[in-house]
Amino acid sequence: MNEDFSKLLSPFQFPVSGIQVDNRIVMAPMTTFSGNEDGTVSDDELSYYKERNRGAGLLISACAYVTPQGKAFPGQFSAYSDDMLPSLKRLAAALKENGGKAVLQIHHGGRMCPPELVPGSEPLSASAVAPVREGAVTPREMTELEIEETIAAYGEAARRAVEAGFDGVEIHGANTYLIQQFFSPHSNRRTDKWGGSLEKRMTFPLAVVDAVKAAVKKASDRPFIIGYRISPEELENPGITMNDTLALAEVLSEKELDYLHVSTMNFFGASLRDAADATPRAQLIYDKVGHKLPVIGVGGVSTPQQADMVLGTGVQLVALGRELLIEPRWLEKLKNGQLDSIETALDVHNQSGLHIPTPMWNSLLTRTGWLPLKE
Ligand SMILES: Cc1cc2nc3c(=O)[nH]c(=O)nc-3n(C[C@H](O)[C@H](O)[C@H](O)COP(=O)(O)O)c2cc1C
Repeated sequence: MNEDFSKLLSPFQFPVSGIQVDNRIVMAPMTTFSGNEDGTVSDDELSYYKERNRGAGLLISACAYVTPQGKAFPGQFSAYSDDMLPSLKRLAAALKENGGKAVLQIHHGGRMCPPELVPGSEPLSASAVAPVREGAVTPREMTELEIEETIAAYGEAARRAVEAGFDGVEIHGANTYLIQQFFSPHSNRRTDKWGGSLEKRMTFPLAVVDAVKAAVKKASDRPFIIGYRISPEELENPGITMNDTLALAEVLSEKELDYLHVSTMNFFGASLRDAADATPRAQLIYDKVGHKLPVIGVGGVSTPQQADMVLGTGVQLVALGRELLIEPRWLEKLKNGQLDSIETALDVHNQSGLHIPTPMWNSLLTRTGWLPLKE
């Protein structure tokens, strides 16, 4: 078969920072559960990233919490204080050493934080509404002061990313975490300026964007990428609908961001809220704002053919998550025409060869159906 993957391998320039990446492949952010107890990045994580730093033009780190109250996973590393700068510098250097551009994902778990991981054993959120899941804890509604401090903490984390040598930050507004909780009519029942109408539910996400932009402008004397990740829909009722998301995307597209990363587990999957609605969510968003805000699509992409189909919908960049766990050399193999040797199932006997830290490895093997396994 004579296949042409030149589009995947073509460079892309981000519109605001002007930073150029060599190709259209992005490493999706993936939590490793393997950081040190003190919030620093561990040696095993550095080895994991070094193994994957030839995998994509843009490399997004696992999410880093911006305040201790935002820690959502055991072994999550952090960006919440200047004490983390040496750790963040090591991470940026590991990601960048082969020419890829390094982005730090900044995050607060809100009501998704396990109580035992946060100070006072008390998860916080927009409102005191528990997530819909077995045994979920009801969070405490944040005070105005806590909201303002948290917004400032995102800005401070972005400043640290600049100082640590990253090429950018991704604001984690997806996957049910705090920023999404403020945007969601399920988790945000506030009646003050932070909640109520669709417009008011945007107040917190937009304030975080403004804080990050201001912090980067102040701290950086070099081009710096600012991206934003969203989850387009929620299953809950009330919950985020596609109309909500298109409205948010429209407003974000006026914010001079470099990209919008549309988090889905299956790029070509149907709407979560209406199985009959089969257009990829990222494509709908691209159709609305893609001409001014580049879109990254993600979810279930394993082969170059699939990645090429994603770009065929118009979205400018395609992210690979689980596939880069399975096949760290994906991009090299594509470039070298070794398509047949691209692995698409995790070799369960090759943890050390794949440089996957043990806590992450264990979670990948025990969560059934998360990724294809090769016994
Ligand atoms: C082990 C693992 C950890 C993840 N951690 C994060 C994370 O830290 N931040 C985030 O936004 N998404 C996270 N995700 C979601 C991925 O970025 C991605 O959107 C999802 O896995 C779908 O893409 P894929 O099919 O290419 O893996 C994680 C996914 C996996 C499998």
